[in-house]
Amino acid sequence: MNLPPHHDPRGQASPWVQRFAPLVAKGGPVLDVACGGGRHARLFRGLGHPVMAVDIDTRGVADLAGQPGVTVCQADLEGGAPVDLGGSYAGIVVTNYLHRPLLAHLPGLLAPGGVLLYETFAQGNQRHGRPSSPAFLLRQGELLAMAQAAGLQVVAFEQGEISLPRAAVVQRLAAVRPLPAPDLDGDPEPRPLPLAYTLGWSESFGT
Ligand SMILES: C[S@@+](CC[C@H](N)C(=O)[O-])C[C@H]1O[C@@H](n2cnc3c(N)ncnc32)[C@H](O)[C@@H]1O
Repeated sequence: MNLPPHHDPRGQASPWVQRFAPLVAKGGPVLDVACGGGRHARLFRGLGHPVMAVDIDTRGVADLAGQPGVTVCQADLEGGAPVDLGGSYAGIVVTNYLHRPLLAHLPGLLAPGGVLLYETFAQGNQRHGRPSSPAFLLRQGELLAMAQAAGLQVVAFEQGEISLPRAAVVQRLAAVRPLPAPDLDGDPEPRPLPLAYTLGWSESFGT
């Protein structure tokens, strides 16, 4: 069977998702939205998480269906009918996909302490090709604004041009639904950053 490239199950996980994956509570359930070939469902499954992989076309994750700890859900997220995506996720991953009406619902699907990892194309990507429709391109600061409006704690946000794996303009977010107990000054507890990041920091500053 000829599958489009995004259905290649051997696709490497996004470095952004890999970097922040350690923030997701050990063993907690993870939702991979518009999963394609399931590269992130596979990543989190390999890390010991139960995963829910959702896509309108589930051929790319057919090999995962029925595996222990994996739920494959074929659903049209843009069809207008509500899709039951479950809830109380320790992690939600969305990469290379944007459906604005869904965006604002994602924080509500996180358990307290749950992590939203998002990476997709942004305005300016038109000059590099597709996607080029404004419907599929994030506006300046849009992920950040969504996270702040939802009361998520933003761990990291980036937007700009990249050259690898190909030239593109992207936006990336890692954000956490705060735990109920705030610290004494009312702010949520700081989140530990992933080890690879903190190691990189201390190397570059010689500490
Ligand atoms: C560019 S691919 C990204 C796949 C995956 N997230 C990744 O980064 O490897 C976009 C995915 O969105 C899915 N998709 C497009 N329209 C959809 C819809 N209406 N409902 C659910 N999934 C949809 C496609 O089938 C495709 O797998």
